[in-house]
Amino acid sequence: MPHTYRIGVLTSGGDCPGLNAVIRAVVCSATNLGWEVLGFTDGYEGLLCPVRYRILDERGVAGILSHGGTILGTTNRGRFAAKIKKGEKARIPSEVIDEAKSTLDGLGVEALVCIGGDGSLSTSLQLGEAGINVVGVPKTIDNDLSATAMTFGFDSAVACVTDALDRLHTTATSHRRVMVVETMGRHAGWIALHGGVSGGADAILIPEIPFHYGKLADFVRNRFSEGALSCMIVVAEGAVPAGGELVTKEGGGSETLLGGIGNIVASEIGARTGRDTRAVVLGHLQRGGQPTTIDRILGTRFGVGAVELIRQKKFGHMVSYQNYQIGAVPIAEAVGELRRVPPDSQTVSAAREVGIYFGD
Ligand code: F6P
Repeated sequence: MPHTYRIGVLTSGGDCPGLNAVIRAVVCSATNLGWEVLGFTDGYEGLLCPVRYRILDERGVAGILSHGGTILGTTNRGRFAAKIKKGEKARIPSEVIDEAKSTLDGLGVEALVCIGGDGSLSTSLQLGEAGINVVGVPKTIDNDLSATAMTFGFDSAVACVTDALDRLHTTATSHRRVMVVETMGRHAGWIALHGGVSGGADAILIPEIPFHYGKLADFVRNRFSEGALSCMIVVAEGAVPAGGELVTKEGGGSETLLGGIGNIVASEIGARTGRDTRAVVLGHLQRGGQPTTIDRILGTRFGVGAVELIRQKKFGHMVSYQNYQIGAVPIAEAVGELRRVPPDSQTVSAAREVGIYFGD
């Protein structure tokens, strides 16, 4: 039977567990409507010469639900990168947008599902302004997108941090050590906070709550003097000491690459307390591997929701998750502002109640 409608799907930005669940759901629900789906590879770059795509059908996405990464490939660099520094957005050159539009027109693709985080959805907005029918799906382990209570990928990253803390706890306790665990998350502390709480951390340092080395060292000393056998400190890569600076690394693409604070915290605490202290940087382990059940379900619901947005011609919108329901919000709302941890949130308060210290 001839297809009635043709849509495209792509994954952009850093990968995360659950991307394949979304792709599969888009393909299955679009196919149910009699539509055809083209999967563009390597993010938006696949829209540019040499154009890279493949036709995705139900057989082509069979078995991918449980796989991490993305079968389409992705990139957080290249000619479409639409974010430069915290809060700043870059304009994509008009010739790049024109080329993408003519690729889609030439292939008869009538709408494009863009699965990405803050930077990638900013790109999709600019494609939308140029007349391309886009819908967004919020992806990022960082969980820092406004207008959705949760992005897929976050839960899997938190599960990785939890597992790491469980493992590190036993070795730290055996050696009576301080263990500093650095997590990802950019300028938001969601991964560190949730991973730290679920992994039983003793202290959690997040970008939203500036910390003090002196107070943290006192906390560590007190713990050991009260008989504790270890001290687990989780530090978000974007955490900053009061009056100090963000620690960055060489090699970022369109965005500054964060990382390195874990080693600094470990050497400061080691020097100030005299305790044997080790640092572990979890890095890309948090982005790899199988998605959790929550991310598989959320990814599936988001993918189905994205096709529904296209069916309703709600272009320029992104699926979002609020109050256990999938809804839609303008993409502009989602990328306007980073969603960060409110320092007085219930989770922070609950963490404080169970004795977790935030270094403040
Ligand atoms: O945005 C997702 C993320 O994993 C951040 O938490 C991290 O800072 C960054 O991407 C790492 O990017 P890259 O894959 O370029 O090293």
